Amino acid sequence: MSPSSKALPLLLLLLLLYQSSANLIRDTCKTGARADPNIKYDFCVRSLESDPRSHNAHDLHGLCEASIDLTIRNATRARARAQELMKKARESVARACLSDCMDLYADAVSKLRDSEKAIRSKRYGDANVWISSAMDAPTTCEDGFREESLRSPLSRENSDVFGLSAITLAITNRLLSWFF
Ligand SMILES: *[C@@H]1O[C@H](CO)[C@@H](O)[C@H](O)[C@H]1NC(C)=O
Repeated sequence: MSPSSKALPLLLLLLLLYQSSANLIRDTCKTGARADPNIKYDFCVRSLESDPRSHNAHDLHGLCEASIDLTIRNATRARARAQELMKKARESVARACLSDCMDLYADAVSKLRDSEKAIRSKRYGDANVWISSAMDAPTTCEDGFREESLRSPLSRENSDVFGLSAITLAITNRLLSWFF
């Protein structure tokens, strides 16, 4: 075989691998959106496709690892953003809300890290419990501002973390159901 005729099958294989990861993401998002109204198909595809690890994922377990990683990074940045805003806040009520959000996110990040370890060792049930509990952080943070009739400066962050957690949860749910 000449070098060029060897390269063609390799190229085809790479193309197939790339396509199968894109299909995995779309299938996962389609199933997730059907099962859970909190999952928006476009947001799901856009988020997972933005991460190179998702592209390298060949199965649902790999995609789950990429998804929890994305969720952790997002929640970590939400926490940092809350801290940043708190330093600048002049009103004590706003500062108190932001401080609560910071604490909520610190706790959520630690739960998400535990979930990541659980996912790595395929303990999807444990991961499920911790992700569900971490998902309270964005909602409680958002409610804190509403109760004080303040406009939340973290709406975008809260909604992103909530959406990403819902996606990861849908994936662990599917992996879990395969055992029964
Ligand atoms: C969090 O995730 C959303 C959705 O994928 C993304 O648009 C946003 O840029 C992320 N935010 C940060 C701060 O990483």
